[in-house]
Amino acid sequence: MEVVILAAGKGTRMFSALPKVLHAIGGKPMLQRVIATAIEINAKQIHVVVGFGADKIKAKLGNPGLGQTINWVMQEEQLGTGHAVQQAASFINSDDNDNTILVLYGDVPLIQASTLIRLLSLADKNSISLLTLATANNQGLGRIIRDENEDVVAIIEEKDATEEQRAITEVNSGIMAIPAARLADWLSRLDNANQQAEYYLTDIVAKAVQDGCKINALTIDAENEVQGVNDKTQLAQLERHLQMTNNSKLIEQGVTLRDPARVDVRGELNCGQDVEIDVNVIFEGAVTLGNNVSIGANVIIKDSSIGDGSEILANSNIDGAQIGNETAIGPSARIRPGTVLHNKVKIGNFVETKNAIIGNGSKANHLAYIGDAEIGENCNIGAGTIFCNYDGANKHKSTLGNNVFIGSNSVLVAPVSLADNAFVAAGSAINSDVPENHLAVGRGKQRNIKGWKRPTKNQN
Ligand code: UD1
Ligand code: CA
Repeated sequence: MEVVILAAGKGTRMFSALPKVLHAIGGKPMLQRVIATAIEINAKQIHVVVGFGADKIKAKLGNPGLGQTINWVMQEEQLGTGHAVQQAASFINSDDNDNTILVLYGDVPLIQASTLIRLLSLADKNSISLLTLATANNQGLGRIIRDENEDVVAIIEEKDATEEQRAITEVNSGIMAIPAARLADWLSRLDNANQQAEYYLTDIVAKAVQDGCKINALTIDAENEVQGVNDKTQLAQLERHLQMTNNSKLIEQGVTLRDPARVDVRGELNCGQDVEIDVNVIFEGAVTLGNNVSIGANVIIKDSSIGDGSEILANSNIDGAQIGNETAIGPSARIRPGTVLHNKVKIGNFVETKNAIIGNGSKANHLAYIGDAEIGENCNIGAGTIFCNYDGANKHKSTLGNNVFIGSNSVLVAPVSLADNAFVAAGSAINSDVPENHLAVGRGKQRNIKGWKRPTKNQN
């Protein structure tokens, strides 16, 4: 079985410079989802027909991974779905009598592998299998024409349909499985004598019937699964459908979502037991939450893992971090890439970390910037501490041992290293190393001036 994905259309109604199939659903470009589904059902070869924005599409999705390569087929002019499949026909193995060609659309992103497997099970060398949809919502879609025996005999596009045919509520999803050995012949017999002057792939159905082939229809009523995206309204509709479907699965697995309509997963989310997620939370990329993790309101987490019993408080932003167990972050903390927090760490409000490894039990409770740092266990980073890691040209690292105390409003000018039990007086600028058990005071000495007079207001 080989898959041909049609993705050459411009997507005029998206009103976007981005090719339509690169618009994302659940954080992934629509075409990427369809390619992943084709890989899931073990397509021997995947042909993607591109035209509008082909270079952008290939640049973005050129390498789908999983050992699969894509055969990109160019359709210079979009002369219809039949013409599009024709462009791929010469690449198809038509010698193998058992080979089937499954046609998918790059803008129908939520088609399920299980449905396609059912459709393919109906395919054989003398029949076409069609995925059809039973819906009252039939506007714009091709109507399935059946004869008096209920056998499918043709597909008529809405623009070419009679009033009577337009009333038909069984429509073409566009997805079909065709015997590879017969495809080229049927395609060569297409013409564009229709209202849209296009070469319709759907016209091969009537040709196949003329040739005595059977048309097997698999009829479903899950509209969203075969819904195409032609505009931003349909994009938003499928986004909500995907989010609600995935969130329902999380809930069924035991995750507490305060409101499934207000959690968005734009990637993959893995949850342990007794995870609680409050409202307006967004997960991006690959995120793992351990057991007993709680995520507060308005939190964004991207490409990170969070250990058992850890708590992310409201309004925090976490990106590219590894968080240990029983660690608390936020509210309003910003954890940037390269952050590794071990166990029982506490990162409080308005603390920013980047490329920082922080040992067990260490705390930065308020207002600090910790960049390019390695911090031992049970350290205390006072309010207003800045790890000054950038000299205007290069980044440098600060290293702290265990039980180091940094008094409030201090600046550590990297590269600098503070040994175990070092203690920095509040308001210090530290630019040389501090030995074990030493107090470092790096600030001007206080003077108290006796008899000093406050300024008074000018009289004129
Ligand atoms: C098509 C079907 C219709 C079906 C509907 C389902 C035909 C003639 N009609 O209609 O029966 O109900 O899909 O959504 O097949 N494309 C190309 N090259 C082209 C034309 C289209 O790659 O020259 C691609 C588009 O990018 C899109 C897909 O094919 O991904 C479908 O094209 P579209 O124009 O949306 O087809 P419809 O008119 O909606
Ligand atoms: Ca369409």
